[in-house]
Amino acid sequence: MAIEILPSLLAADFGNLAADVLRAEASGADRLHLDVMDAHFVPNLSFGPDVVALARKVAPDFWRHVHLMMTRPDLYLEKFRDAGAQTIQIHVEADVDVHRELKRIEAMGVKSALALNPETPAEAVFPYLKETREILVMTVHPGYGGQKFIPECLPKIAAIRKRAPEIDLMVDGGVNGETAILAAEAGANQFVAGSYLFKQPDMKAAVAAMRRDLARCP
Ligand code: DX5
Ligand code: ZN
Repeated sequence: MAIEILPSLLAADFGNLAADVLRAEASGADRLHLDVMDAHFVPNLSFGPDVVALARKVAPDFWRHVHLMMTRPDLYLEKFRDAGAQTIQIHVEADVDVHRELKRIEAMGVKSALALNPETPAEAVFPYLKETREILVMTVHPGYGGQKFIPECLPKIAAIRKRAPEIDLMVDGGVNGETAILAAEAGANQFVAGSYLFKQPDMKAAVAAMRRDLARCP
């Protein structure tokens, strides 16, 4: 499976967002992860389509992977597509018909992806494994950056990997050089990292080190 590293813009300096989008792109990371929070699905607000559009403007070739932590993502899909989202990830716990919304995302010409919260069992995503491109296992309770990786989520990664050997399997929350290895050993191949990467004085070196260490995982 191809290894991917995605810096999460949530950990950027919001006073210098454009510069931090460029910094993430120049780090050699694969794609940009953009966390949208609605203060309902999670107890926090982050940003909306305008920030996705800003990322497109300053770094048009840096893939925009948009993680919608929203109770009703269905009401905003077109807005995020129009702002430049290239992958739209919804949650299996959202208050929507997941089969229908994954289809709508793909029909819009956007790649679909599905996320699940720490307390949600692996089985919840089994019905969708043939309908979407990526599954994201949250390894913190969503809502805030800078939290600690929950190791109890590792068996869930392994269960999904066993069921879907070919699917892209992403982890998000508390990912750093060490926890990324634990997730990779469980079967993850895509890694979102916010605070760990943005706090690095040399993000490029950190991404390269992470990639090198992950490549050594069996
Ligand atoms: C959490 C978000 C994450 C977050 C990760 O609700 O979905 O993408 O930005 O941040 P770190 O890497 O700091 O845990
Ligand atoms: Zn995220």
